[in-house]
Amino acid sequence: MRGQWGTRLGFILAASGSAVGLGNIWGFPFMAGQSGGGLFVLFYLACVAVIGLPVMIAEIMVGRRAQRSPVGAYGRLSGDKAMWKLVGWMGVAAGVLILSFYSVIAGWTLDYTVLSIRDAFAGRSPGDIEALFAERTGERPGGVIFLHALFMVMVIAIVAGGVEKGLERAVRILMPLLFVLIVGLLIYGTTLEGFGEGARFLFVPDLDEFDAGAALAALGQSMFSLSLGMGAILTYGSYLRRKDDIVATSTTISLLDTFIAVAAGMILFPIVFTYDLGTAGGEGLIFEVLPAFFENMPAGQLVAIVFFALLFFAALTSALSLLEVVTATVIDQLGWRRLTAAAAVGGGIFVLGLPSAHAELLPFWEDLFGMGFQESLVFLIYNVFLPLGGLLISVFAGWVLTRSASYEEFTAGSRLAGLYPGWLILVRFIVPIGILLVFVTTWAEMFFPDLLSSEGANE
Ligand code: TRP
Repeated sequence: MRGQWGTRLGFILAASGSAVGLGNIWGFPFMAGQSGGGLFVLFYLACVAVIGLPVMIAEIMVGRRAQRSPVGAYGRLSGDKAMWKLVGWMGVAAGVLILSFYSVIAGWTLDYTVLSIRDAFAGRSPGDIEALFAERTGERPGGVIFLHALFMVMVIAIVAGGVEKGLERAVRILMPLLFVLIVGLLIYGTTLEGFGEGARFLFVPDLDEFDAGAALAALGQSMFSLSLGMGAILTYGSYLRRKDDIVATSTTISLLDTFIAVAAGMILFPIVFTYDLGTAGGEGLIFEVLPAFFENMPAGQLVAIVFFALLFFAALTSALSLLEVVTATVIDQLGWRRLTAAAAVGGGIFVLGLPSAHAELLPFWEDLFGMGFQESLVFLIYNVFLPLGGLLISVFAGWVLTRSASYEEFTAGSRLAGLYPGWLILVRFIVPIGILLVFVTTWAEMFFPDLLSSEGANE
């Protein structure tokens, strides 16, 4: 018998622990900043509602139906079709790639927790704090690699012990704490001089700036933030009890995750405009911007410590879900012991993450591909793996899974059973077509920029 969550709340906590992480607080503002703000946010919200939510329902459904991790689940429910098992393996590969760079960034949050404890931001101007980030991540590879290793060891240790026990308890305390801190910062942020400008940047779409890349970035970001498209939620769903309501649960998780992402943006951009820091800070954005904010608020040092520590825990609970998928697959497929599987897979991921921690390890990469190693991974995951994974899971749930099976899973314990026909139309048509459309326009724009520019595609 497989392990199960103790309660429905246990599942919600674990799944939101997976969803809420660096993607919300580090990824969302940085993507929004690079993709021009309002339009990206609009696309993002649309993607969560129309694509993310139905795909989340589909993943949990497939996981619970099959009682397996992705490869086994696709195999079992498709009558052992190799093509579908391959889709499962693609998800596992995505998990490996994501965790390899995710762990490096989680290492930065540890670094910044310690820097806050040492009061290292005191007396520095916003400009100095911006420079500090380059120094911390670029000029001391030993430190960055050490923190990456430390983080992976923690993730391996927890996954080796079994996800259900410790995780439920930790998330139950830390998630509400993070939520309260975010709301507090949000309220305090309204006092900033740049608040109005920040809000405008984030919520008023600039239609003249339309660029199809923003749509794909928003799609990828929504999948990443909700932990969809690679089988993580599917695997957690396989531990969900039969009687629990998939639809209400998915809605709760999506709302919470989206709130935290948008709130993180609402905290960050007013600071950016107040201190004139520039929106397109890229991957370093939160590390360059937030310490300046904490410096100038009452009890700022304490707030900084708590913030970075909670961000670290949010990253940890997300990383657990990533390693859990890969580990569960190795256990299910190869019959390894949990400890061996977690250690072997985690060790491999650590090694794969080294060039993300220290780009000099692959000096030719940037010349060859025109972007850094870590940036290439982010690009591949956001633009290819996750959207494709989402498309395939929705086709699977809509067309391969029998209607009686999906109906049973959808309606079990649910007061929202009446939404089934709507969900079916979404996963059968709207989600696959929507994802394809975004794919085609973006890639077309990337490779044939002239094609769309004269028309000024305004959809
Ligand atoms: N959703 C997490 C975040 O926002 C990251 C994550 C965890 C993830 N598991 C995933 C992303 C599975 C994609 C797929 O930080």
